[in-house]
Parts: sequence; structure tokens; C-alpha cells
Amino acid sequence: MDKDTYQYFHYNDVPKDLINQLVKRASQSPYRQAFHIEADSGYLNDPNGFSYFNGRYHLFYQWSPINYAEGNVWYQGWHHLVSEDLVHWQSLGPGIEPTSDYETHGAYSGSALDLGEELLIFYTGNTRNKHWQRKPYQIIARMDKNNRMTKELPPTIQGQPSGYTDHFRDPKLWRKNGKFYAVVGIQREDLTGAALVLTSEDSSHWQIAGELSTGLTNFGYMWECPDYFEIEDTAVLIFSPQGLAPQGDKYQNIYQTGYIIGQAISSENLTFSQSAQFVELDRGFDFYAPQSSHLPDGRRVLFGWMGLPEIQYPTEEYDYCGCLTCPRAITYRNGQLYQYPVSELNTLRAESITIHQNESYEIFKQSDMEVWIKQANHADWQLNLGFDEQFTERLIISFNHQTNCLYLDRSHLNRKLATEYGSQRCIFDNVGASVTLRILMDTSSIEIFVNQGATAASARFFVEGAQRCLRFDGQDQEMSGKIWRIKGAKIDE
Ligand code: FRU
Repeated sequence: MDKDTYQYFHYNDVPKDLINQLVKRASQSPYRQAFHIEADSGYLNDPNGFSYFNGRYHLFYQWSPINYAEGNVWYQGWHHLVSEDLVHWQSLGPGIEPTSDYETHGAYSGSALDLGEELLIFYTGNTRNKHWQRKPYQIIARMDKNNRMTKELPPTIQGQPSGYTDHFRDPKLWRKNGKFYAVVGIQREDLTGAALVLTSEDSSHWQIAGELSTGLTNFGYMWECPDYFEIEDTAVLIFSPQGLAPQGDKYQNIYQTGYIIGQAISSENLTFSQSAQFVELDRGFDFYAPQSSHLPDGRRVLFGWMGLPEIQYPTEEYDYCGCLTCPRAITYRNGQLYQYPVSELNTLRAESITIHQNESYEIFKQSDMEVWIKQANHADWQLNLGFDEQFTERLIISFNHQTNCLYLDRSHLNRKLATEYGSQRCIFDNVGASVTLRILMDTSSIEIFVNQGATAASARFFVEGAQRCLRFDGQDQEMSGKIWRIKGAKIDE
């Protein structure tokens, strides 16, 4: 298929009744989230362009709003949201539309940087010719204070440098010492993944400085959505490698997301590390392609896509798919990254109940939980999140004394999900005498933060009813906790 066979490049050209039909269908889903960002129709994937600009947070996501419509209809671009508090979002509709000849097959992922008077945007235009050969373009756009987007065409980088394939995408911007930088995911000609560093003096004209040197010369076949930042005198590269084989408890999902720690780079020195150690950023079932931003108050905050490519989710029966994680504050301590829900999310807490071990509780369909477990590593225990009074259908967070690990188990769900990748994940190892859990549960997702965010684990689950129960089973532990009902935070259309 080439561009001429497609029908729509502007969202406005898509017949309104088609959109209304899809939006209506999605709204009938029993799985609609109450405080996580999801699309009102179609397919959502990567968070893009996360930034603070002109007095508000801006967040975009990859969006194919008519993905589930019948016929030869197509549109893939960015959807634009704004917020004053990272929690309540307003939809501004399409952000970047695939209108030019340089993005006929999608305005793919990219990032944004606040330049004061305008928001600088760098993203990938994806094209294919009649023979389905791909050509990627790295495109600069600028958004003014009225949210008007102007693309700088022809694109500053066309195609890929020699030694690499056409899998070249997802520029992530930063600025240092007056120079602009971007890191971009790419595939080497030997079919291994890597990241290139691009530089620019004026933010319009970009050069390829070279490959980021990480010591990972054979680590998956493609690195998607790299994100470079410096935090507490160290440098971090987050990326989503594809093609890693499972290794013990690690790398169980179809594709991975993790980070490596290294040294700050510059245009003259691209040596980040000689022997980087990859650490998974989220040890649950559904997490990919996150993007972080440095906010004016000094925090680094990250959103992920709580989903994965090529996995079928039950919401597709309602013509939509995908949601983002909650915003997570990222810190660097004890040689590792910590992630924790931003404190603004506490404003969604309504009434609460307190809990103790060996009793069952009715909890809320959307719950924010804090659980403290003492003597946590003395013997096995289980925290059950049930969907009926008998806890027949449930999610289980368990401690196994033999392996000294915490597990998240989805095997007792009626609606099976991606079971070819297993139903259990080790979400934390080396459990000590006390464990704290922060758990954010929305209608169809759970995010678990262990020991103040030393690890995070995300999972979708699809249960039609509204009942939610909790029971802690353990003889040797002391468990207490508090559970708040979460007031929803619906996107304002
Ligand atoms: C990651 C990804 C990116 C690409 C985008 C397209 O999920 O494949 O590499 O830019 O999605 O939607």
C-alpha cells in the first residue's frame, strides 16, 4: 500500500459519525480506566513529547484513532494532552498529524524541549514505498504558545547512515552547555540494536555525532525509544530493546525496557560505558517505551506505555487499546533508579480503610494502597486481590521463602492474557525483614512499587465485575495497611 491508497491525513477529514461510533463503542467497555490516560478510541502506544511549557504540562501519545474501523482507513500521529497537575488532563486532540510526504506511514515517536517561546519537537516520520521499503526521517517541529505546530521540512535527517538499517527512530532531546542533543534508536547492519547521538547548534540543523558506546554490542536486534538523562552526577540511558531471550526470571515479556548507568557524554566523547549492566525498569507484565522529562521543580518524571506491541488486549473487543502508567518520579539512590507515583496523585485519595492480616476486606474498584509487612522474609505469605468473595478469581502478590523473591501472579484470572509469556513474574529479589508496598489499582491495571520504589511492576487485568477484595495470608508476619478509594480523574474532552 502506498500513500495514495490511504484516505485520511487530517483527523478532521475522518467522518464524524465514524469517530462517534468508535468513541461510543469504547465508552461501553467495562475495562475503562478511571485515572490512567487512555485513548477515547483506537490504539494508544508510546508517550511522546512530555514537557512543561507555557505554564502547563504537555503530554502526547502515539495514536491510531481509527485503527479498528472497517476498510482502508488510516491515521497514525500524536494525540495532545495538557495538565496543570500531572493528574487531571485535558485533551487537545491531534498533536502531530501525518500530513507530509515524510511521514506517510506514521508520525512516529519523539520528544519535546521547552525553549521558552516555543516547544521544540523532534520525531520520526515513517514512510514506505510501493515495495514496502521503509525510509525514516527525523523531523523538527515547533509548537507556539497557541499550540500551533510547524514542521521544518524537508527533514533535517533523511534515511539512515551507512552501517545501519532503516530501523532508525524515536529521537529524545536534551540541551547541555548551549548545544542540542538527541539520542535515537537504531539497528546495525548486523541486526543488533544501538543508539545514535545527534547534535545541533541551532536546533534546526542536526548532525550524526556517532554511536553511543555502551559495551552492549549484541543486545537485542533493535533499541526503541531511548531516553538519556543526567541525574545526581551520573548518566542514565533508558531504552526498550527487542529480541532479548528470557534469562532466569528476567526478560519474560515479549520486549523489554530497562536502563544502564554510565558517564555523562558530550559531542566529543560518546563513551557512556565500557560494560553496561542492563536493569529492567519495571518487572511486571505490561510496560514499554517510557519517556521522562525534567520538570521545572527539579523532578524527573516518567510515563510508560502500560502495554506492549503485538499483544492482544481484551479492550480490542471495544475498538480501543492501551493506556499509560501513572506519572512516576525518578530518583537515583544506592546505585539504582527508584520510581514512585508523583505526590500529586495523593490528591485523588478519598475515604480510607485500615487493614490487618488474616481478614478479608471489601476494597474499592479504584484503590490506592499502602501495605507494611514485618518479618516479611520469615516464611511464605500471600496478598490476594480478589474479584469475588471467595477469591476464586484473583491477582496474587506472594513471597516465596525458598527463592527469597516477591512474585506477581496473574494465573487465577478468568480472562487469560499473553499466557505464552507466562503468568508469573518475580518482581523483587533479596527480600529483607520488612517490605512496604504501594499499590495503585485502577479498573483494569495494577502498579506495584516495592520498598519506596526500588522496583515497580505493572500489569493489566480484565475483570468485568466491580467487586474488589483483599486478604493477606501469612502466619508469621505482621501486616498493616491503609487503602484509599481513588476519585477518578477523567480526561476532559
Ligand atoms: C515503540 C514504537 C516506536 C515507534 C512507535 C510507532 O512502541 O515502535 O519505535 O516510533 O512505536 O508507533
